[in-house]
Amino acid sequence: MDLSTNYLGLSLPHPLMPGASPLVDDMDMVKRLEDTGAAAIVMHSLFEEQISGERAHTLRQIEAHTDSFSEAPSFFPCCSALSVGPEPYLEQIRRIKAAVHVPVIGSLNGTTATGWLDYARMIQQAGADALELNFYVVATDPQEQGQAVEQRTLDIFRKVKAFVTIPVAVKLSPFFCSFAHVASQLDGLGADGLVLFNRFYQPDIDIETLEVVPRLQLSDSSELLLRLRWLAILSGHVRATLGVSGGVHTAVDAMKAVMAGAHAVQLVSALLQHGPDRLKTIREEMVRWMEEHEYHSLRQMQGSMNLMRCPDPAAFERANYVRVLHSWRSTSEP
Ligand SMILES: Cc1cc2nc3c(=O)[nH]c(=O)nc-3n(C[C@H](O)[C@H](O)[C@H](O)COP(=O)(O)O)c2cc1C
Repeated sequence: MDLSTNYLGLSLPHPLMPGASPLVDDMDMVKRLEDTGAAAIVMHSLFEEQISGERAHTLRQIEAHTDSFSEAPSFFPCCSALSVGPEPYLEQIRRIKAAVHVPVIGSLNGTTATGWLDYARMIQQAGADALELNFYVVATDPQEQGQAVEQRTLDIFRKVKAFVTIPVAVKLSPFFCSFAHVASQLDGLGADGLVLFNRFYQPDIDIETLEVVPRLQLSDSSELLLRLRWLAILSGHVRATLGVSGGVHTAVDAMKAVMAGAHAVQLVSALLQHGPDRLKTIREEMVRWMEEHEYHSLRQMQGSMNLMRCPDPAAFERANYVRVLHSWRSTSEP
């Protein structure tokens, strides 16, 4: 079965790869990921807070005061990991590049168009074959208009693109007023890939200790549905290749994403839960299903369920919405 795909201009034997996560911290794990057939290795992010003087200073201040006043520090994430400088990150890229034969995708994560973006170039110099740019931003300023938030995203992308010659993917949040417009603007600026989506981790409140508790819950397949919708809407309308991140746990999930238009399928929670061999199992199950259903290649499947032929995607979404609500009524009636 020909599972080959093109993602970010990279020719890959199949679309399955680990998404950005600490899996790459351990070289044995990186080798196991390659052995199990990962099509590429996506690095965890180098965060703006690890680079930028101003933000690093804020983090150090928070750490210094952690024990001296009781409540405020709990509003901030524990930052000792983030106070590590960027050099070990670059060194890890070099190490991984020397150890594996598959493409290595670096990851930069931040929100301002300032000096830290120079690290895009350094990530390229360290040997990365491509770069994923992650905007994890919660727009908290009531004075900032939506358009300004979008503009910031575009400005950061434009700067990074000017710094490097390797392909650049943008990992986005779905929480834009007009996500399709943001995606199309990035596409117009030359994004090589769009990764749908970032997961937002919602901190919880411990009412006994009055602390804000950062809670990392792994995903399940239900999170894929939001990704499927947007892959299907964008597929065929943007030149950028599309990656899915979030909610892929099984071969069926992976094939749904490909049918909706994904060129690359990233997995993190599934690999953290079941180990790197999960990649191989999913690939084998995909091949079996595709043979049974007389597919010859992944490309035949790619985008087959996109909304390209739908004359009015917004009306289609409304129709589905009404159908879903009515389906509940009909199942609950005697
Ligand atoms: C422990 C952990 C660490 C992560 N670190 C990063 C990171 O450094 N950069 C990033 O862009 N995403 C990071 N992510 C998000 C994942 O890349 C991915 O987008 C998310 O987990 C959804 O995919 P999944 O449903 O397959 O887990 C991390 C996720 C987990 C669980």
